[in-house]
Amino acid sequence: VSKPSSDRESPAWYETYFGPDYLRIYRLADTQDQLDFLRHVLPSRPGTRVLDVCCGHGRHAVVLAGWGYGVVGLDLSAPFLKVAQATAQGHGLPLPLVRGDVRAFPFQAGIFDVALSMFTSFGYFDDDRENELVLHQIAATLKPGALFILDLANPDFVRHQPPTSSWEHEGVKVSTVYAFNETTRRATTRRTVQFPEGQEKVYESSVRMYERDEIVSLVEAAGFTVQTLYGSYDRAPIDPSRKRMILVSERRSDGVGG
Ligand SMILES: C[S@@+](CC[C@H](N)C(=O)[O-])C[C@H]1O[C@@H](n2cnc3c(N)ncnc32)[C@H](O)[C@@H]1O
Repeated sequence: VSKPSSDRESPAWYETYFGPDYLRIYRLADTQDQLDFLRHVLPSRPGTRVLDVCCGHGRHAVVLAGWGYGVVGLDLSAPFLKVAQATAQGHGLPLPLVRGDVRAFPFQAGIFDVALSMFTSFGYFDDDRENELVLHQIAATLKPGALFILDLANPDFVRHQPPTSSWEHEGVKVSTVYAFNETTRRATTRRTVQFPEGQEKVYESSVRMYERDEIVSLVEAAGFTVQTLYGSYDRAPIDPSRKRMILVSERRSDGVGG
């Protein structure tokens, strides 16, 4: 596990990126499509316990709690968890939230029926072994037969996207430079953000991109059987033109990887 930020010269990108500015920069326009996807693939059994790994500000977890699932959210970002808590409370919904790091789960073994990792919340660590450790943490906390949904960016789509883009959202102007390094297999973004109040900030991210065969092997090695791969939230097959690579897997009962 990487050293905590207090021992390093500067924090890792994911320790500062996911704060109040993020929610102003991103339109997060796909939320309804993602929820429709989840409605199709999640089991409808009463009492299903769902762990939202990297739940962010709770845009899926709160809705799932409203559907009757027993949801628990885990995330590193205190500001995001505060938003999630306030939203759940505003709807009168129970939503236990845990601030923690995905490399060291605070949960007991074999207690959840479903784990979600939505919207490219995987592959943040520089060391591949730490990313793989996350899969093992998830496997350990799931019951045999449990479902694991891993929603990643499609590397083929990412490597062919235009190297720059810009957009404006509620007065916030965002210019992004993208790069895909075929040696490190990481996709990086550098966003320059101009806020209507006059401030300018730069945010950088770096995410390990997994090819389809590689991530299937890693997920299976962690103790899952990959059942279905989708290329979009409307459950179309993977294709280089489609943005997502969503793995739906079942926790094996043989204990491997847990
Ligand atoms: C792209 S966001 C997605 C959030 C949420 N799943 C959604 O779709 O809205 C990634 C999330 O991962 C969280 N995160 C990043 N690094 C983490 C870590 N080491 N441990 C736990 N959560 C982390 C961030 O705080 C952020 O909420």
